[in-house]
Amino acid sequence: MGPAKTTSASVADRFRPRGRNWPLIFAYIIACGGATKTTTGTSLAVTMALRGYSSVFMDLDANLSATKVLGYRTEHLKGRKTVFDLVTGKATFEEVVVPARYSLGEDEEGVEQFAEIPNLRLIPGSPALAGADTYIALDPDRNDWFMEFLHTYDGDDCVLHADFPASYGKMVYSVARMLDEDDSVIPSVRADPKDVNMIPDLLEELAKIREINKNKRSIPGRPTFEHLVLTGTPTASYTEAAPRRAVAKAEDLYPKQLLPKVRYSADAKKMYEDLVPLPILLPNSYPAEDYRKVATALGFKQL
Ligand SMILES: Nc1ncnc2c1ncn2[C@@H]1O[C@H](COP(=O)(O)OP(=O)(O)O)[C@@H](O)[C@H]1O
Ligand SMILES: [Mg+2]
Repeated sequence: MGPAKTTSASVADRFRPRGRNWPLIFAYIIACGGATKTTTGTSLAVTMALRGYSSVFMDLDANLSATKVLGYRTEHLKGRKTVFDLVTGKATFEEVVVPARYSLGEDEEGVEQFAEIPNLRLIPGSPALAGADTYIALDPDRNDWFMEFLHTYDGDDCVLHADFPASYGKMVYSVARMLDEDDSVIPSVRADPKDVNMIPDLLEELAKIREINKNKRSIPGRPTFEHLVLTGTPTASYTEAAPRRAVAKAEDLYPKQLLPKVRYSADAKKMYEDLVPLPILLPNSYPAEDYRKVATALGFKQL
């Protein structure tokens, strides 16, 4: 008999590859501002949640974009421990995680009402994350925060989504080195040739992380680029030349990685105005429809 498995019996084996105790990791990484990482990450997490797959969404960007889209503004988080306390080892997962939700507007008394999103929890971001790279750089042992977080995780989520700022700093490193081939680095870029041109830098970065960690036994160290999301792609009414060139380029260079294309919609911006995730705010918009195809392609079909 082998060692006892720590995996919760209710979680399918495919979400606990190699018998590990933590979920699949989807990391939305690309050092390119406004690339559509947060739109893609939150839309996929919500789409999967609505299909019955539970996830945790970790916002590692000091701009709190994902946190706001998943229902929390700074005033809602006052006095709470933050993801930065998780990084510094001063908080546990249970202390920082909250149910994802969205605003329904105010009731007659002017009190804001929220609806919870089933199957989705959020680890809210913090402005303090702006100092996280420096904090980790002070002592290489602090890279271990994410490994320790995973080792102590005992929930039954299918996926842990991690959203990042547009950089390849220590935060990205501390998370990315815990990925292996079962996990996914999912860059999401706009259908713009100059965004597609940012992908080789990401590949180089991932190769560097694999190289540094190749002989370490306790660190998987194999973040790989197996999926690419291309957003803002042409439609019948969005026919500019640059997006078409970007699609051709991505199809040519990354045919195996390219997921179903996420079409352009000016409505995508509304997500940040109303602070409601796109699949809930505009379920019939092109992008919401296309993120359902992406979720299916990633193996999360409607249950
Ligand atoms: N399918 C789409 N079509 C058009 N605009 C989009 C689409 N998806 C996202 N956007 C817009 O792109 C901008 C950047 O998106 P965001 O997800 O915040 O990027 P990042 O997290 O990489 O900085 C936002 O204004 C968003 O509304
Ligand atoms: Mg973002």
